[in-house]
Amino acid sequence: MSETFPEGLQDFLHALNEDMRTAADWGAPADYIPELAAVDPAQFAISVAMADGRTISAGQHDKPFSIQSVSKVFTLAAALGRIGDTLWGRVGREPSGTAFNSIALLEQEKGRPRNPFINAGAIVTTDALLDKRAPREALAELLQFIRYAAEDEEIYIDRHVAASEEATGHRNAALAHYLYSFGNMLNEPDMTLGTYMHQCAIAMTTEQLARSGRMLAGLEGAPRLISADRARRINALMMTCGHYDGSGDFAFRVGLPGKSGVGGGILMIAPGKASIAVWSPGLNYYGNSKVGTEAAHRLANFTGWSVF
Ligand code: DON
Repeated sequence: MSETFPEGLQDFLHALNEDMRTAADWGAPADYIPELAAVDPAQFAISVAMADGRTISAGQHDKPFSIQSVSKVFTLAAALGRIGDTLWGRVGREPSGTAFNSIALLEQEKGRPRNPFINAGAIVTTDALLDKRAPREALAELLQFIRYAAEDEEIYIDRHVAASEEATGHRNAALAHYLYSFGNMLNEPDMTLGTYMHQCAIAMTTEQLARSGRMLAGLEGAPRLISADRARRINALMMTCGHYDGSGDFAFRVGLPGKSGVGGGILMIAPGKASIAVWSPGLNYYGNSKVGTEAAHRLANFTGWSVF
């Protein structure tokens, strides 16, 4: 067993699952994407991919869910791989202090989104990855990247979720067209938008997600997709911007770089120790998993993995 494997972790995860299942308030699933609104909020799963190569889980860890904004981590890594640091000319690296889908700062800051994790910044990052290619080519590259990171070929896009968001995604359409008006889009806005919504509709289990995060945790034996330097920087962005205007609270309570999605998933990185995925579809005020955040808090307390 690796030195970093905390005694009793498997038992702790089972007890955590039991406890989370009695949650009085699961929060409500995202209501603006009809396919997600229909998901039963009373669900929970957690998986921890350890430095010694094992993955241990509890709850519904083999049930795929919509990763939504967690995908922005993979798109960022893949886009940086494709165009390198020139991406930072088009998107910033500061927390926004605004909601994930806010348009407010874009006008003041002339179409350069604050960071790659708010929707505006993620749309620019997807646009960079798309790079004048057909959307299916960029999406195939992204899926391949994630499958390689997770060492699992069984990861797909849920077309119903993508179509559901395409039918109702007026805010993202507004963001994409607004970005285009500032000259911060290479491709036709609707082309980038479709790619972005399909990327958000990737479905994964917590086990697959935890395994895919190993590349960011510097875990031995993990697939080498990005340099240690780039992983360090992506972790910094996850810590400061990964939960939008709830990032400060997540750092305060959990102390780990994390990225949330409105499907209720959260990917967390304990550098050098583990990659963790938690899922529960009900959301809190900020659009981050309510029960998932509570579970992350308890896991951080149990393991002492906070980076602070
Ligand atoms: O673009 C959207 O609104 C969704 N596809 C993703 C947003 C999201 O996951 C925000 N995260 N908490």
